[in-house]
Amino acid sequence: MSENGLKVLDRKHLSDSVCVIVGTRPGIIKMSPIIKELSWRQVPSFTLHTGQHYSYEMDKKFFEDLGLPKPLYHLPQCKPGSLHGEQTANMLSGIESVLIEAKPRLVLVCGDANTNLAGALAARKLQIEVGHVESGLRSNDWRMPEEHNRVIIDHISDYLFAPTPRARQNLADDNVKGKIYLTGNTIVDALIQHVEIAENKSAIMKTLSLPKNGYILTTIHREENVDHIDTLTEIIKGLELIGGNLDFPIVLPVHPRTKKRFSDFNQWSKLAGIQNLTIIDPVGYLDFLILLRNAALVLTDSGGIQEESCILHTPCVTLRENTERQETVYVKSNTIAGTKPERILNAVERSLEKEADWPNPFGDGRAAKRIIDVSVGIPVTEWASALDNKMRLL
Ligand code: UD1
Ligand code: UDP
Repeated sequence: MSENGLKVLDRKHLSDSVCVIVGTRPGIIKMSPIIKELSWRQVPSFTLHTGQHYSYEMDKKFFEDLGLPKPLYHLPQCKPGSLHGEQTANMLSGIESVLIEAKPRLVLVCGDANTNLAGALAARKLQIEVGHVESGLRSNDWRMPEEHNRVIIDHISDYLFAPTPRARQNLADDNVKGKIYLTGNTIVDALIQHVEIAENKSAIMKTLSLPKNGYILTTIHREENVDHIDTLTEIIKGLELIGGNLDFPIVLPVHPRTKKRFSDFNQWSKLAGIQNLTIIDPVGYLDFLILLRNAALVLTDSGGIQEESCILHTPCVTLRENTERQETVYVKSNTIAGTKPERILNAVERSLEKEADWPNPFGDGRAAKRIIDVSVGIPVTEWASALDNKMRLL
């Protein structure tokens, strides 16, 4: 119960601060420009970490690579293997307690992970305003936990920060209640802020003895892909076909969920037999940017990597039947291959021949600035129409 004995917070008693909620690898990366912008502009703010990701290489490594301060609040680590409801409920309850104590006037969440659903819902229930960064994405694939989260968060947010005109249109089509702002995606900000630092600091190419533009990078972690033995086996068969037919080293930094599934489904010996495949632990952001920038191609089911590969001009093949990043398909950086082995090989072969000359549809690296303008009540007319014109061209 809050201190006034009510189940909601009294708006008059809220503090000046903005609460930024993080908890997963992509969320830490995409919120980093926002955390920095708040700090540079001396807007009172704090970060709350939900504990959803907790392994060093999924969490703390990103605070180090991105130069972020330790979160002011850190909830206990989520239990490995917990169900969606249990995980979301634990985070919801933990976030609610923090919000009652800290009383921020605004909560910002980013993306579609359970962390963000829990954050947005906790704030909404206490009648604290909510801003959804990267709102309006839709895969229209109702099997995906992320799709449920996106739709719910968008409908309970006050401020909807759409990364692209397409996302803005999705929000309008969905009749959301909050105010919609086209801002660009903060992944562009994060990438611009770190790519040169990565060039100077990362030794990953040397460590793995990789030839520039001469290897394939791959990541797999999506629940629909790795939790189902049939689909996972198809993807592994796809890697086998690539390894056997193309003369490219394949590098797979393996997500902990996938690593666990490789063990659960006894796939390690099959993987060991794949020609040219090297499996490594997940790498930090700086090393990943370098791996992605120098790859001949990336094969992935990640959302963020579809965007980053588009921005860095590395062709992408997506191991899914659909994407909520349709802009990448539209500008032709990305091919949706699904998970059937022959389709994967075919898409990789075709994509390796591509001219990487597509435009970047995700904005100009000033998304965080715009999001904070809105968050502190600065009128947006000046940049809104200019950005609108610029992005409409794509
Ligand atoms: C979550 C998000 C997904 C996002 C991904 C980013 C949801 C529904 N899914 O999926 O949208 O693309 O993060 O990576 O929120 N584990 C560890 N250490 C960690 C984190 C996870 O060992 O630091 C293992 C545990 O066994 C855990 C499993 O991975 O149970 C799944 O983790 P979870 O956070 O539930 O989902 P992700 O697959 O990471
Ligand atoms: N990433 C990383 N190291 C890795 C794999 C990915 O730093 O070993 C970064 C990548 O640059 C991208 C983000 O993690 O910004 C994507 O996260 P993930 O694929 O886990 O989640 P999604 O974007 O699918 O939600």
